[in-house]
Amino acid sequence: MRSDKFYLTTAIPYINAPPHIGHALELLYADVLARHERLLGKEVVFVTGTDEHGQKIARQAEEAGKNPQDFSDEMARVYQDLTKLLQATNTDFIRTSEERHRLGAQEFWRRVARRGHIYKKLYSGLYCVGCEQFKTDKELLDGKCPDHKTAPELIEEENYFFKLTSFQDDLKKLYASNDKFVVPQDKFNEAIQLVNSGLEDVSISRRAKRLSWGIPVPGDESQVMYVWFDALTNYLTVLGFGSEDESLLKRFWPADLHIVGKDINRFHIVLWPAMLLAAGLEPPKQIGVHGWITVDGQKMSKTVGNVVEPSEPIKLYGLEGMRYLFTRYLPFYGDSDFSPARFAELYEADLSNGLGNLVNRVISMVEKYRQGKVPARVQINPMPSVSWKEYCQTMENLEFDKALSLIWNGIVTPANQYIDKTKPWALSKEKKEEELDGVLYLMLESLRQIAWMIRPFMPETSDKMLFQLKQDLNQKFEQYSSWGLLEPGTEISVGSQLFPRLEKA
Ligand code: MSP
Repeated sequence: MRSDKFYLTTAIPYINAPPHIGHALELLYADVLARHERLLGKEVVFVTGTDEHGQKIARQAEEAGKNPQDFSDEMARVYQDLTKLLQATNTDFIRTSEERHRLGAQEFWRRVARRGHIYKKLYSGLYCVGCEQFKTDKELLDGKCPDHKTAPELIEEENYFFKLTSFQDDLKKLYASNDKFVVPQDKFNEAIQLVNSGLEDVSISRRAKRLSWGIPVPGDESQVMYVWFDALTNYLTVLGFGSEDESLLKRFWPADLHIVGKDINRFHIVLWPAMLLAAGLEPPKQIGVHGWITVDGQKMSKTVGNVVEPSEPIKLYGLEGMRYLFTRYLPFYGDSDFSPARFAELYEADLSNGLGNLVNRVISMVEKYRQGKVPARVQINPMPSVSWKEYCQTMENLEFDKALSLIWNGIVTPANQYIDKTKPWALSKEKKEEELDGVLYLMLESLRQIAWMIRPFMPETSDKMLFQLKQDLNQKFEQYSSWGLLEPGTEISVGSQLFPRLEKA
């Protein structure tokens, strides 16, 4: 069913360290989709933000000799800068230390409590600060957290608990009612198995004495909320949940898509929908779980010293190049590897020699043989192009890599080959004017189609190409997706080289 609106989110990163290319990639996936949905004519709310409470941040602030709020203000700015650096089109940015979030999260707690899903009990458990999560013995490897390689801390105190167990059946029903609730399927299966094997209630508060950097539990200042219970509600509080103006919430909830990494899928597939059901709210429509990036085959880590900052690939390939290379060669599903050397080769092949060269050739031939004007609309054998239906389907499936392969394998490469084969220079010499018109018109139309299809990925390149072709940028999908829109006689303009060759390191 087509809808006129779309609400999507990224996970909100912890701010204990500056962002790396993993965070950038998640933002890029979301931005590409947000831009695509807008191009389909939808009103899009696209939100990202920062997760600022909890032990991990409190400790990091202490180490930096700062109070947690000042530390968070500084670090949140770095994450906000990242959205600008990538030219992400997020419509809001939510910080969990903001007042609007605190008020909303507390209202959420009250609703869940009022409906009888929160109770207090004495508890002791092993807590991993890295994960901000209690661990069972089963989940540890030689007594250590397998992700953080540290031994969890024993915590014993009276906490509030969320009755996750009451939602076991509702979760099963939810999963059964929507076979696309989680993509990809293997991540969905993981969650289904988890729920089938039996859930436990979750501790959702900490003693404020032990940890004061958090949102106070409504009605009990001696406790603060557990960081995940607080952070997950950002998806609601950013829409004004619990405030005087809930109009955005009414229009945009439930979310169409939460984009999250594979390490935090359980929180989103199990805990979050249960929390929403407990508050009497609808669960999101879909969770998209992406894989992780490694660098030259290795997991990024401070200890190894191979953490790549997002500005690095931008320096290497330009922002447009980075946006293209990341979304094409770091597919959403599964893990993938960033290798600066390999990406440089791909840049040259796909962008300098591929698209850049095609644009250059076509425009200069039109200049040379047709005085820079769109030739007559002569029908010749159509060369392969890409079906918009197939393209939109891959975008909807979050297969951004496939969408780009479709464009390159379906138009960019064949168009370059088509020019080699039809030899417009020879047609001109032999005065085969009609045939030449046909070839040039076809090539210009191909450029127009490419420009619209790459628009979510490389917005500036798309702008430049459409400007050269004198196209109105505000066209609707029905218009720009049809063939043959270029008006014969229109004067096109020559532009500068789109993808200059990289300087050899
Ligand atoms: N604060 C939580 C999320 C709360 S959402 C209500 C968190 N933060 S995080 O900073 O650890 O991770 C933020 C996002 O970045 C997650 O989706 C995570 O999977 C993703 N990534 C972190 N490292 C990554 C890679 N190396 N590659 C791709 N994505 C990665 O979890």
